[in-house]
Amino acid sequence: MSSFRELFKSLYILALSNFKFVLGGNMININSLSKSFNNGIQKTTVLHNVTFTISKGIGLSIMGPSGSGKTTLLNCISGLSTPDVGSVIIGNKDLSELKGKEISNFRRKNIGFVFQDFKLLPHYSVIDNVILPLTYDESRRTLETRAKKLLNEVGIDESLFNRLPNGLSGGEKQRVAIARALIADPDLLLCDEPTGNLDKDNRDQIVELLFTLKKKGKTIIVVTHDEEVAEKGDLIYQLKDGNLVDRGLMI
Ligand SMILES: Nc1ncnc2c1ncn2[C@@H]1O[C@H](COP(=O)(O)OP(=O)(O)O)[C@@H](O)[C@H]1O
Ligand SMILES: [Mg+2]
Repeated sequence: MSSFRELFKSLYILALSNFKFVLGGNMININSLSKSFNNGIQKTTVLHNVTFTISKGIGLSIMGPSGSGKTTLLNCISGLSTPDVGSVIIGNKDLSELKGKEISNFRRKNIGFVFQDFKLLPHYSVIDNVILPLTYDESRRTLETRAKKLLNEVGIDESLFNRLPNGLSGGEKQRVAIARALIADPDLLLCDEPTGNLDKDNRDQIVELLFTLKKKGKTIIVVTHDEEVAEKGDLIYQLKDGNLVDRGLMI
């Protein structure tokens, strides 16, 4: 029964990948990526020869225990961290070709981030938190209109728009953070343990909300150590001893 389900899921993903490939091509292309940290005494390899490709509109879950390199991998994908070897191509942009400010500009416009601890600025209202990433790029008026629409879409009531983050529940904070991640209309969302600070009900709602964004053409990567969260993705990869494995198979 479960192998039938697996087969069905594989066929579905294959169909989806091909469909999206025709429409939008590959979203992420990671080739032979390795990353190690050196504390002056010893070198620790965190990621070893990680290679994978995902198409636009896919929801990918990456699992792994604490310390397995999930955040390091997301940092390499977003250009916050530079791999020792290997390449990261987002859309058709090889991140190694971007210099200086180009990399932060690329990140701001093309990648949305969602974090376990929300990272909302405590002294800014809900609406200001959402527009903040683009305040130097567009007029406040334009951004406010877009922020209000996004907040509505993620389920935040208008009565909360001018509230400070500490007046929100955990689930509400994460919804605001998701609206903020979407303000630049990025193609890619990177979510680092997005449900780690939420109770079960809110966890389920936030995961549902994140993966629903695929319908709008977003590519979603969720890193998590929660099996129930990971299962909502189209694909599940696991970080194991620095290698990225797909259900036990090396990829
Ligand atoms: N900037 C850094 N300098 C040194 N070691 C680091 C640095 N960032 C991460 N590490 C180490 O890399 C390993 C993986 O960390 P991380 O990617 O944060 O794991 P995870 O997100 O899966 O918990 C850990 O052992 C961590 O201590
Ligand atoms: Mg982490």
